[in-house]
Amino acid sequence: MIPIKNPEAITRMREACAVAATVLARLREQVRPGITTYDLDQIGRDLIASFGARSACHGYQLHSRRYPAYTCLSVNEEVVHGIGSIKRILRDGDIISLDVVVEYNGYIGDNALTVPVGPIAPRTAELLKVTEEALALGIRQAVVGNRIGDISHAVQTFVEAHGFGIVREMVGHGVGRAMHEEPQIPNFGRKNSGEKIKPGMTLAIEPMVNLGGYPVRTLSDGWTIVTSDGQPSAHFEHTVLTADSGPEILTIPRPA
Ligand code: MF3
Ligand code: CO
Repeated sequence: MIPIKNPEAITRMREACAVAATVLARLREQVRPGITTYDLDQIGRDLIASFGARSACHGYQLHSRRYPAYTCLSVNEEVVHGIGSIKRILRDGDIISLDVVVEYNGYIGDNALTVPVGPIAPRTAELLKVTEEALALGIRQAVVGNRIGDISHAVQTFVEAHGFGIVREMVGHGVGRAMHEEPQIPNFGRKNSGEKIKPGMTLAIEPMVNLGGYPVRTLSDGWTIVTSDGQPSAHFEHTVLTADSGPEILTIPRPA
């Protein structure tokens, strides 16, 4: 069953998502050549704490491993779930995906984006643009009366039309009191397939797009997902409310 949020839960989701988005916006400002991903993670940890929130990633358990960092920081060929490291120093020409998931007042907000570090290759710049646009197109399908597959199909067709690989192994998801609720939201699929979208669902839509082929593998740390062909990958994510009036992005930063 896909949880439907009542007005009280929606209010709390709005607050958690605003915190997640504000942390992400501030963290993004810290990206520059020379900084390590460890330092970025520490900044993320402090930002999350400054809002009285908690990282939903830190300690998150999967196959009896606990995620050790506060944010997910994935550089170049890293797709998602990269762990900040003092050894990973950002350089001109890199891209980095920042994924921030916070729990605030018992509810979770989840969002991500990919940014360039200094000047990047034109095809990589196109990768970022297409991934962000694919997210926007997916969100546009998150309409009451549509089905989850309508989101999946919109993302896949747009990404593949640009010659990029859409990752299959990881998917978007419902989000609420738990980071991962039903339904799964694949970034590939058929129109008019999957669960019907009803008012009051909160969905994390998150295309992961590879510059080359779509296959990925997991590093020996048990977390970091990388592209099999070593080419760069991008990731954009919003938490979206399926309101009667249409899809509403909840992960919007608070004005400073
Ligand atoms: N946005 C990611 C997801 O939905 C965050 C994962 S946190 C981690 O899966 F703990 F798994 F790293
Ligand atoms: Co997510």
